[in-house]
Amino acid sequence: MMTTVIETWALRKQFGSTVAVSDLSVCIRRGEVFGFLGPNGAGKTTSVKMLLGLVEPTSGGATVLGAPVGDRSCRARMGFLPEHFRFHDSLTGREFLRIHGRLLGLHGAPLERRIDDLLARVHLLEAAHRPLRQFSKGMVQRAGLAQALIGEPELVFLDEPTSGLDPLGRVLVRELIEELRARGATVFLNSHLLGEVEATCDRVAFVKQGRTVHELSLKESTAALEVELKADRTDSSTLNGLRNFAHDVRLDGSIVRLRVKSENVVPEIARWLVGQGIGIHGLGSRRKSLEEWFIEVMGEDQRPG
Ligand SMILES: Nc1ncnc2c1ncn2[C@@H]1O[C@H](COP(=O)(O)OP(=O)(O)OP(=O)(O)O)[C@@H](O)[C@H]1O
Ligand SMILES: [Mg+2]
Repeated sequence: MMTTVIETWALRKQFGSTVAVSDLSVCIRRGEVFGFLGPNGAGKTTSVKMLLGLVEPTSGGATVLGAPVGDRSCRARMGFLPEHFRFHDSLTGREFLRIHGRLLGLHGAPLERRIDDLLARVHLLEAAHRPLRQFSKGMVQRAGLAQALIGEPELVFLDEPTSGLDPLGRVLVRELIEELRARGATVFLNSHLLGEVEATCDRVAFVKQGRTVHELSLKESTAALEVELKADRTDSSTLNGLRNFAHDVRLDGSIVRLRVKSENVVPEIARWLVGQGIGIHGLGSRRKSLEEWFIEVMGEDQRPG
């Protein structure tokens, strides 16, 4: 069974002298909800378009759903919510979905049933007979989401799916992603809303100036934990001893900060400190937020040293 859904090797896209994507290297497994994070202009949308075969790579390679990137035969198994989409706005919501369904080879009663289900799911059943030009921004976005899901895709690319959505709309997106996960689909998510990424993604990659610079698992078991320790002795021999339990041990004023792999390390640290006769004034762990990660990863080369 194929478990890798997307694999890329040094995928690159240049528009004239602009390097949009300089080196995209990712490997995404079936059923994963993968977040792709980076500042504006980092090349996220261009990467998605290359993976969908909508933009031709300048160099490098990729396989998507087992086929070389750009192979149109797999396109019907993928769904795509574009970042900006334009379409004929005299179409009604229902006609818009019908056209996209037909492009994927659906028709007749099964297509109409699918459209009804999706319209209901994105709360547009009532508005479905109205032309899209009368839709609000959030309604258009929800119609776009329904469009991305019409073919029951195995792989869904969502480029900023919550943009323009109110809090209820954002909850809807989160639920739709959970439904995709539950049926084993793979989701590739571009989003700047890190709280949402944190709530939905299994793994994220940070992209900076067209290059994937860092990957992070968000699963509880493997995500890095930060431990904060206040002790009555923080001399260098104490810090060195702590290095047996943690990578990255540093003194921040009177607080020792450590990075550990698992929560189980915390009681081990406590036992060791007690054994050394060191008084513990405070010891706690917390997971670093994605926003903190983002700032750390993106700001790496701005920091001195
Ligand atoms: N068709 C194009 N022609 C020329 N340059 C382009 C084109 N598409 C994208 N670019 C450039 O490529 C770079 C990456 O753009 P891209 O849209 O992929 O970024 P992004 O990470 O999606 O940004 P955002 O977070 O703002 O959506 C930018 O410098 C952009 O100006
Ligand atoms: Mg973009």
